[in-house]
Amino acid sequence: MYRNILVPLDDSELAANLVTQALDFARALGARLTFFHARADYAATSDGALQLAMAPEQFAEQAAGAAPGILAKAEAAARAAKVEWEAVAVTSDRPFEAILETAEARGCDLIFMASHGRRGLRGLFLGSQTQKVLEHARLPVLVASVESNVEGRDMQAATATIKDEHRSLAAVIHAMRHLVQKSRESDEAPDLELLSACLFYIRNFPAVLHHPKEEQWLFSRLRGADAELDALIATLEGQHREGAARLDALGEELEALNAGRIDATAFGQALERFAEGEWEHMSMEEKLILPAAQERLTEADWREIAAHFAANRDPRFGAEPDEAYRKLFSRIVRLAQQRP
Ligand SMILES: [Fe+2]
Ligand SMILES: [Fe+2]
Repeated sequence: MYRNILVPLDDSELAANLVTQALDFARALGARLTFFHARADYAATSDGALQLAMAPEQFAEQAAGAAPGILAKAEAAARAAKVEWEAVAVTSDRPFEAILETAEARGCDLIFMASHGRRGLRGLFLGSQTQKVLEHARLPVLVASVESNVEGRDMQAATATIKDEHRSLAAVIHAMRHLVQKSRESDEAPDLELLSACLFYIRNFPAVLHHPKEEQWLFSRLRGADAELDALIATLEGQHREGAARLDALGEELEALNAGRIDATAFGQALERFAEGEWEHMSMEEKLILPAAQERLTEADWREIAAHFAANRDPRFGAEPDEAYRKLFSRIVRLAQQRP
């Protein structure tokens, strides 16, 4: 059967659902996944060429595009699902060719792609490239339906957003662990600036936007129907509060690390306590509350939940907070990966 499955991803909301489906499929087969993203050749544009000459660090950020963030989230999901993976980003203006070349070069025996994109420009990539891959591939191609235009679309969109936000948090925690581990191995001071950026992201995204949205729009609709579910919601809300307290403690530990009062090992221990709490919490949500919600809520409920989860309005980041967080997230995972 299939052993190594190539999963092309773009930066649309579809990618989160595609990753979930590919992981379920790979786990059932005992296969590994090769996550793939093709980014446009920024150096070939006049803006890119100028920036490369004038501001190489900004060029590196622009040229990397969304790839580090897209792949870091897929990796976080694979880690949680205990599926073996590798991640490949290539620069190409002809994604379908890059997909076919990578599949061959990495010894993949199946390509797992999305059937069609979300309406609107941002989502067009997957669907259009799938057509071209189907026309030219010599390998089998499995076309997964990640967004139907029929019943259940809002439920899919809302659960995909929740899982996508979990993966962002998991990827940032992983980046922090990586930085601490590298510092301990090399006996050099950890990158405090990057650790602070990670903490800033966690404080402002999951803590300020994600958890309150869950309580306000999802948990509230499920409350009162069943005692077991009420107890689960009380546990999850308790975990939100405990997580916030552990995050405060982690912030204090980072200050202590900065001031030289503790070393990277002690900071690493506080980080592990925070990470363990978050893994347990996210896993309970994905394994228990989301299936319960899928069973109980109506399409009208999901429409409203999807709308609230899609709109991360936060005045501190101007009109497009999503974009600001996306950039910060990409920057964090890119810089963390670069640390030797
Ligand atoms: Fe939560
Ligand atoms: Fe959550």
